[in-house]
Amino acid sequence: MIIGGCPNGAPAVYTNQAELLTRQGSHSSNLIIMITVEGLTKRYANHVAVDNISFSVERGQIVGFLGPNGAGKTTTMRVLTCFLPPTSGTARVAEFDVLEQPMEVKKRIGYLPETPPLYPEMEVVEYLEYVGRLKGVPKESLARRVDEAAEKCSVGDVKSKLIGKLSKGYRQRVGLAQAIIHNPDVLILDEPTSGLDPQQIIETRDLIKGLAGEHTIILSTHILPEVEQLCERVIIIAKGKLVATDTVQNLTSRLRGAETVAIEITGRNGAGLSTPDVLERLERVAGVSRVLERDSRDGNLTLMVESEQGQHIRPELARAVVEAGWNLNELHAVGLSLEEIFLELTGAPKADVTAPHATTVGGFAGGNQ
Ligand SMILES: Nc1ncnc2c1ncn2[C@@H]1O[C@H](COP(=O)(O)OP(=O)(O)O)[C@@H](O)[C@H]1O
Ligand SMILES: [Mg+2]
Repeated sequence: MIIGGCPNGAPAVYTNQAELLTRQGSHSSNLIIMITVEGLTKRYANHVAVDNISFSVERGQIVGFLGPNGAGKTTTMRVLTCFLPPTSGTARVAEFDVLEQPMEVKKRIGYLPETPPLYPEMEVVEYLEYVGRLKGVPKESLARRVDEAAEKCSVGDVKSKLIGKLSKGYRQRVGLAQAIIHNPDVLILDEPTSGLDPQQIIETRDLIKGLAGEHTIILSTHILPEVEQLCERVIIIAKGKLVATDTVQNLTSRLRGAETVAIEITGRNGAGLSTPDVLERLERVAGVSRVLERDSRDGNLTLMVESEQGQHIRPELARAVVEAGWNLNELHAVGLSLEEIFLELTGAPKADVTAPHATTVGGFAGGNQ
């Protein structure tokens, strides 16, 4: 695994190297790469929105594209869907280049933009037929495709309603139905739950889960639990740069090879504890990178102790506490949450995620939650 700055000045990207090697070495594997992005850069005038990012997505995967507002998620998706040409680098869908064979790419991609392209004055069924014709669905199968898409996206019961009369949740589902109308291999969903109420969010996530088996899906989000609930892999970008790509599980459990240990101590025989003394003593334990105070009440001091990479500090930590003459009430390892990892990787300010709606990542300035 790579984390931290590279000597040659290239952006530091965390990837799971072991997994990468296995994949490269497995000739018998029938994995098919559906999306390949190589050295993609997109510049708007002088502003670099996407800066030399590379990643790939296997067929059938559901991948979370995670990053704070302004990270470059929408821009990347617009390049993948042939709405924007890359400034440099390449993007391919099912081996078709977005610049060289956009028609082939578009056939294979269903796109739900941040604001779905809906026409309020159209009935749902009319609209889906219209999009189907635009996307080249053959006349004889159009009615069937409209029914299938409407059913999959749970809008069958409002088929003859005007889109303008639908709730936001229904409109979003019509947006999904238009994205799958031509039964594309790949779905690109830009913040699909943004602006929905909690019930609508659950329904939309369930719907996306249901689509996952048949389609390769990239969905962008700034909501961490959404990634944990929906995605197998995550691609994290910040300020246009790729900062991590791995399975959600690996990211949460193995990213740093470091451990965080929660300990609770008290003074022996009712004696008080000096927090600075405790911090100073524990910081000297071999392998400890930092010690943070979590709580201090009734003579109990709770601390979070972080190890350096690859260090197992629990035995030494326990010994140090006992040798200092304190009682060790509790000591256990705590896993890093995806949120903590995200903050670590993107350098997003912690203050932003300690707000009441602590499920959004740092830097998000939208008002949709
Ligand atoms: N059409 C545009 N012209 C100029 N700058 C843009 C344009 N679209 C996006 N940007 C800038 O590019 C960066 C990435 O934006 P975007 O891809 O929308 O990020 P995200 O979807 O992750 O919030 C932001 O700094 C944004 O202000
Ligand atoms: Mg966006």
